[in-house]
Amino acid sequence: MSTNEPNLAQSRGVITRYRAFLPVSESTPVISLGEGNTPLLFSARLSEKVGRDCQVFIKNRCVNPTGSFKDRGMTVAVSKALEHKTRALICASTGNTSASAAAYAARAGISCVVVLPAGKIARGKLLQAFAYGGKIVAINGNFDDALRIVRVLGESNDFAIVNSINPDRIAGQKTAAFEIVDLLGDAPDLQLLPLGNAGNLTAYWAGYREYHASGKSTKLPPMIGFQAAGSAPIFHNHVVENPETIASAIRIGNPASWKQARAAIDESHGAVDIVTDQEILAAQRWLAQNEGIFVEPASAASIAGLFKSCEAKEAAYSLAKIPPGSRIVCTVTGHGLKDPDVIAKDMVDLAPVAANPDAVRRALAL
Ligand code: F0G
Repeated sequence: MSTNEPNLAQSRGVITRYRAFLPVSESTPVISLGEGNTPLLFSARLSEKVGRDCQVFIKNRCVNPTGSFKDRGMTVAVSKALEHKTRALICASTGNTSASAAAYAARAGISCVVVLPAGKIARGKLLQAFAYGGKIVAINGNFDDALRIVRVLGESNDFAIVNSINPDRIAGQKTAAFEIVDLLGDAPDLQLLPLGNAGNLTAYWAGYREYHASGKSTKLPPMIGFQAAGSAPIFHNHVVENPETIASAIRIGNPASWKQARAAIDESHGAVDIVTDQEILAAQRWLAQNEGIFVEPASAASIAGLFKSCEAKEAAYSLAKIPPGSRIVCTVTGHGLKDPDVIAKDMVDLAPVAANPDAVRRALAL
């Protein structure tokens, strides 16, 4: 990058803000799109649902340059790839990783190959990878097949793999936990997340542990991960051959960071639970219509999970057991516009009325 780059403080990304905690040095070229620094929003309505003076916060990671949480890890992975003189990135993806990788590759001036399950990627995400100039290869297989192929191709020196099996991705993603602690003044009492390939939960736990070890927090939150009922290998403790769910981002039958996420859940005295597609879609709608936050279905798993933990007797983690006044963070991960087809199905046809105020009044039944 240019040596006379101006210092735009408001566009500081994850590497600039958390350099001391990241595997970067002075000679690492920083490839950033100003990611991170995402909102932590207090939700009065969710707090009321939990009750007993508990406070619920939504960490909205849809507010990132490519609309998902992947950017926070991608800035580190792509900066390190460039430091190692890599000319091309490669990833398998259910959509968001590919959008993010293609964007950061464009910013870095290198190429990016994305291997995707054909016909299984939400429209907006595919469009993003294409718009950013990614070289897209669709396979007749699922995400787990795509990742298997990427692992093989990544063995050559031609590509740097930027899936979350790359530790630099996890290092970047852990800064989401730092931001939560920085804003709350301590770690929360509970952390809820959607769970797919299991990199994000692994990263959050690493972040909470690292901040705790450096004296920035006094406690460690139990980590609660939510899988879609039709794609729940960690919950069932076995590989799911043909995972199915409306939440395409977490349609994964054999998560790459399974062991690490399981360890994080166990060490933190957390839990893994499942939510049905119906619960996911209801939570997606609830969040959009009650908080003004429009997320993609996979994201809504953490909110659906919160509802389940409040209400269902068979929940893996019951909120009835948390102390009064607990602070709970639900992370949402990807923007709703990425997957318009899911919500568009419910949209009624808008028959036009005449272009005058009376006709509009009549249409509104005023
Ligand atoms: N939410 C969204 C919106 C995602 O895109 C993903 C994963 C997850 C949650 C789950 O996070 O995999 O770290 O447990 N998306 C990956 C992808 C697999 O290829 O974009 P995880």
